[in-house]
Amino acid sequence: MNNKENQISASNRLDKAVGLRDKWCGEIGVGDIGEKVTICGWVAKTREHSQHLSFVDVRDRSGMIQCVIDSVVDLHSEYVVKVSGQVTRRPEGTENVELETGSVELTSCEVEVLNSSETPPFSLGKYSEADESVRLRYRYLDLRRSKMLNNLQLRSAINHCARNAMVEQGFTEVETPLLWTPTPEGAREFAVPSRLQKGSFYVLPQSPQIAKQLLMVAGVDRYFQIARCLRDEDLRADRQFEFTQLDIEASFVTMHDILEIVNHVIRKIVMVVRQVEHLAIRTMTWKDALENYGTDKPDLRFGMELVDLGEVFRETQFRAFQAEVVKAIVVEDGASLSRSRLDQLVDRAKELGALGLVWMKIGSVGVPGNSSSPDHPNSLEDIISIESPVAKFLQDHEKEQLISKLGLSGGELVLVVAGEHRSTCEILGQLRLELGSRLANEANEDALEFVWVVDFPMFDGTDEAGNLQAAHHPFTMPHIEDLELLEINPKAVRSQAYDLVLNGWELGSGSIRIHSNEIQSRVFKSLGITQDQAQERFGFLLSAFRYGAPPHGGFAVGMDRLIALLAREDNIREVIAFPKTQSGLDMMTGAPKALSKRNLQELGLNVGPKPN
Ligand code: AMO
Repeated sequence: MNNKENQISASNRLDKAVGLRDKWCGEIGVGDIGEKVTICGWVAKTREHSQHLSFVDVRDRSGMIQCVIDSVVDLHSEYVVKVSGQVTRRPEGTENVELETGSVELTSCEVEVLNSSETPPFSLGKYSEADESVRLRYRYLDLRRSKMLNNLQLRSAINHCARNAMVEQGFTEVETPLLWTPTPEGAREFAVPSRLQKGSFYVLPQSPQIAKQLLMVAGVDRYFQIARCLRDEDLRADRQFEFTQLDIEASFVTMHDILEIVNHVIRKIVMVVRQVEHLAIRTMTWKDALENYGTDKPDLRFGMELVDLGEVFRETQFRAFQAEVVKAIVVEDGASLSRSRLDQLVDRAKELGALGLVWMKIGSVGVPGNSSSPDHPNSLEDIISIESPVAKFLQDHEKEQLISKLGLSGGELVLVVAGEHRSTCEILGQLRLELGSRLANEANEDALEFVWVVDFPMFDGTDEAGNLQAAHHPFTMPHIEDLELLEINPKAVRSQAYDLVLNGWELGSGSIRIHSNEIQSRVFKSLGITQDQAQERFGFLLSAFRYGAPPHGGFAVGMDRLIALLAREDNIREVIAFPKTQSGLDMMTGAPKALSKRNLQELGLNVGPKPN
């Protein structure tokens, strides 16, 4: 075990091993020398030294210890054993620095086999080379590996810490139903057929959103839940069908209060897991995030910000730069990139929707007046050398301004995209990520850059019918000072919605909710939702709101993502005990499966033949 893992498991340590054993394997050390102890665990490795001497490594969830047995043993990998022996210092020169218990061993051991084991389909070392589908099929073995057990322990420690931090702040934990009804949150829902009400369906909750708002009407005032949420969406590294939120709602609060409540939880967790005191959590508007990082999920572990070149090319003759915006990113030391790598970047930008990508290699940037050529004391080429397919189309003063605006000193690669504002920002933002995040990760894999993104637009795009779509959900409160724009310029309305981002991952989101019927009706109207439709889809919430709904707001932290990032994993499957594959299969149980005819009949379902 390395130090990073020790910090995590320390918070999960059991005070005393009880039951069949009196010590955990990983906790035996020089302080125990001379004691007789009993451990239980799995055989990790056996070595027969001679007919009279065998070495057996036994591991449990805390670590591993070497046991010395004065005979030949009939033990194999993953046999379950109980071993009693004397803690002894290892002979000089035979210590194992890789092992936390490597200075000692158990000697004069007596071994009792508690169970045998078939040979496992892959090795259960810390790092497994096995294909992920095999690991998932035998997940109970995969989880036996120290790395996975540590992830589960980390998860438990974080949940425990989150729960304490919420209770400390006066929040009440309330469980909400899993058999629920469709809600307008945007994701596709899983349906559950009702046996008693044939032909009717429950829906599994995308989140406890509406339930927690009803709890505010009920006067719970400060609610939280470590809640399972279910969404039938395409799976990715940061998405599973089933995931967990730390779900929060509070009454009589402002956005600032919610941010502080969540900051408190995050700081506590990071303190326990990484021992970071005074964790900095920044705040940025959605507009600034888009403008400077080309995304609403800025990865602030590295700079490479987007720079607006509008001023520089305001009167340009170069047609490609006569666009709504011209923006650039600078890749430090990028001038050495090969031509084929640059071609790849151009292709990538086009794939992302750009009309083109202009690259400029900055050769040298000299000081005016320091020319080495007496014939041309101040020629531009002496001061700036730009290698670019478009260099000849740029005016000298444009080149000069470009150098000064971007603060170039030579050796950089400049990437420029021109076009419509939002897409230009987003394309450059994506290139920034692809060029910068790997390096940022290599530079400091422990960096934790939290940032709140606030003031999201109220509406984002339109649906097939041309109706505006809510950027968050239809119960999000607009900014009070933007309310007057709701009917005249809805796209300019900002909402009181906010996201928390960590290292470029959206960790969570929330908002202040609408509690006034008048504002809610106006928002529904902007979204093209009629009174009748609203009544039919979430009438129960609207009627509750007629009985004195307090002003309220909340937030949900995606726990799987938070835990994965703190475990230094790049896929949330690594911190979920029994996840689904990318295609939604459970490799271990074989789910989803067909139901028997009888089951289907009971549920009143008529299912056609399975498609091939
Ligand atoms: P939202 O839909 O943004 O907000 O979800 C909140 C957070 O949950 C996590 N998350 C997921 N994690 C893993 N797999 C998924 N499929 C998945 N989907 C979402 C993300 C996300 O930021 N009810 C609102 C919150 C509120 O307004 O209070 C909600 O659910 O980290």
